[in-house]
Amino acid sequence: RWPNDVQIKEVGPRDGLQNEKKRLATADKVSWINMLSESGVREIEYSSFVHPKWVPQLSDAHEVGRKIKRNPNVRYSALVPNRKGLELALEAGIDGASVFMSASESHNKKNINKTIAETYSVLGEVIKGAKQANKHVTGYISTVFDCPFEGKIVPQQVIRVCDQLFEFGVDDISLGDTIGTAVPLQVDQLLEVVLSRYPKEKIIMHFHDTRGMAIANITRSLEYGITRFDSSIGGLGGCPYAPGAAGNVATNDVLYLLHGLGIKTGIDEKKLQEAAFFIQKKLGKALPSKSLAYAESQ
Ligand code: HMG
Ligand code: MG
Repeated sequence: RWPNDVQIKEVGPRDGLQNEKKRLATADKVSWINMLSESGVREIEYSSFVHPKWVPQLSDAHEVGRKIKRNPNVRYSALVPNRKGLELALEAGIDGASVFMSASESHNKKNINKTIAETYSVLGEVIKGAKQANKHVTGYISTVFDCPFEGKIVPQQVIRVCDQLFEFGVDDISLGDTIGTAVPLQVDQLLEVVLSRYPKEKIIMHFHDTRGMAIANITRSLEYGITRFDSSIGGLGGCPYAPGAAGNVATNDVLYLLHGLGIKTGIDEKKLQEAAFFIQKKLGKALPSKSLAYAESQ
């Protein structure tokens, strides 16, 4: 019933931090990412090469990329919105480029200031450039279940964007429950359609935990054979351009679930906890993960 192995992408340093008002020092980000690099996680999204005015917290992406200590067993990726972002990311050093857009027109416009059609021409170029530089490319699609401005999104809208991104040459696609509204029935409805069209190895699920449904949705996705998930240490995060979006599902909680089901992740829970305690201290606040709070109380 359950897969043997699951691959987690730690997105805390990008999706987690992008929504944090308190600016972290670059040196602290570097130390934190270095700790994550030693936890056994195989992919870390270390920052974002978007416009610094749009996400000020990550305006030091270039410096972070230059300073982190690279573990050869980890793929270091970063968010890249356009050619300019790709140039900067390549200079700073990436193994993977994550391009992003939305299934819904209005979230796409709010988030990246373009219509879906305009975005395709930008991303087509970025994906081509990243592949020419021999980088892994992941395509994120936001608002795959619900959009904060348009409401329900039907699977066909998601498929249209998947088709286009795969045609441009992305290696895989991460499906984002941006505002954390989905329940397992919606996961069923989307995955039935998506997996009838694409191999499950190419699909990653990206749940935000606004309503506490992420663990239920991950369990449901596992039942469909999905083995790749994005999560954020401690549950840090949210999308600054999606009202009401809370953090990603907490990596600590996902590990508790997966290891309890006998599924291997290669991640050392203790080392991950230490990295979570470190960032809690730097941000001066408790992170939402329940298993982290429990570990802390012991
Ligand atoms: P724009 O203003 O439309 O950009 O922003 P533009 O192409 O018109 O350029 C305007 C100026 O910005 C130009 O400078 C460019 O050079 C500069 P000027 O010539 O006027 O001096 N510029 C840049 N500078 C530095 N780095 C760049 C860059 N690009 C242009 N990369 C843009 C368009 C996409 C850049 C902007 O809308 C943006 O940065 N948006 C990012 C928003 C964001 O980061 N959102 C959160 C991440 S997505 C997310 O969290 C969802 C996800 O987790 C999945 C899920 O949960 O659903 C992935
Ligand atoms: Mg996200």
